[in-house]
Amino acid sequence: MIGQRLSEPETMGGHAATIEEAAIVTQERPRVQGVGVREWRPRPTLRGTDYSSEAVYEEERERLFFRGWFCIGRADEVPASGDYLVRDVAGESIFVVRNRAGELRAFYNVCAHRGTRILDEDPACGSVGKAIKCPYHAWSYDLDGRLLATPNVHEDEQFERADYRLNEVAVDQHGGFLFVSLAAEPGSLLDWLRNSNETILEFERYRLGELRLGRRISYDVAANWKIVVENYNECLHCPQIHPELVQVIPLYRKGEVWDGETRDGGNEMAPGATSFTASGTSDLPKFPDLFPEDYGMYYGAFQFPNLMVNMHPDSVMAYVVYPQGPDRTRVVSEFYFRPEALAMPGFDPSPTVDLWDLISRQDWQVCERAQLGVSSRGYRGGVYPRKDRLLFDFNERWREALGRPQVG
Ligand code: FES
Ligand SMILES: [Fe+2]
Repeated sequence: MIGQRLSEPETMGGHAATIEEAAIVTQERPRVQGVGVREWRPRPTLRGTDYSSEAVYEEERERLFFRGWFCIGRADEVPASGDYLVRDVAGESIFVVRNRAGELRAFYNVCAHRGTRILDEDPACGSVGKAIKCPYHAWSYDLDGRLLATPNVHEDEQFERADYRLNEVAVDQHGGFLFVSLAAEPGSLLDWLRNSNETILEFERYRLGELRLGRRISYDVAANWKIVVENYNECLHCPQIHPELVQVIPLYRKGEVWDGETRDGGNEMAPGATSFTASGTSDLPKFPDLFPEDYGMYYGAFQFPNLMVNMHPDSVMAYVVYPQGPDRTRVVSEFYFRPEALAMPGFDPSPTVDLWDLISRQDWQVCERAQLGVSSRGYRGGVYPRKDRLLFDFNERWREALGRPQVG
């Protein structure tokens, strides 16, 4: 994870750290990723109840999802003043709206009058126009959450509107990805992004912030969110589960996720392939200014806790993971492209979308099967051999977030 060529960070907010600092801190995070075959010793998996109990899920909500930063999609879904999107953050409905000054604001989706949910989750985005109006008694708020109007309730009733704003939460963005934090005192997003097993900060050259959403597929998976993340971080399953994927990325035939030599955990695609498609080619224009070798590479980055980004020479696919309970997860697969690609007549991303959709469905099937097994009282906990080492890294980061001791 060294030698990255990084441009200026585009995170909003007051943190003054440079991107060079970001890279240094990232490298300092202890990880077993680079540990060789001889040094590796098998590590224990999480316990079955960590994947199945309501109590652990509650702990995760309080200590992780409501305290850290949580990805909720893309800023380009709210391009103009009044545009909003609604998302479920581990059971809390949150909406983001762009205010009149063009800044992002995020709020609990809860009316200050008597608590009614204000915006629907279906459709999950749209425009509120100039004001956010509650569908119950028509109280309305401006785009900064200030109470504007309370029909038939007057100020001479000793009623101070300024006391009843929408309940605001932190929102920030990086690389075009939107993040919210429900913490009372959220730290900086950049610090959070650095303290991850892998990070999108290492891929500034893909100019993620310039990409635009082109396709979205939503999957409901009957598995714990950590099983989805762990499945993403290993390829021992690839030869058996993904016959099409191992054609595109030959290393995966060996059950390995990274050859330990390529930059940033990248993997070479099949000889001559320049696109993540079954044929290895596509009509989409290539991303500008990548390293020469990137045009034949695939990169995956897991940004703790709920974002997994797959980078290709002409497109990016991200899984945004929304935990719905201990044994249910919504995984939203979003495909991003250069604006000029989206503007092309006959723009057709289906070769990439179809291949990923196939791989995703193969994955969810085994994730659901794993969930069934780890929920059994007969499951005694399992083992991570070296090719599962990124899962162990993830589990250590998870333990850190929950205040549990590291296994080491
Ligand atoms: S609960 Fe929203 S206006 Fe009454
Ligand atoms: Fe897979």
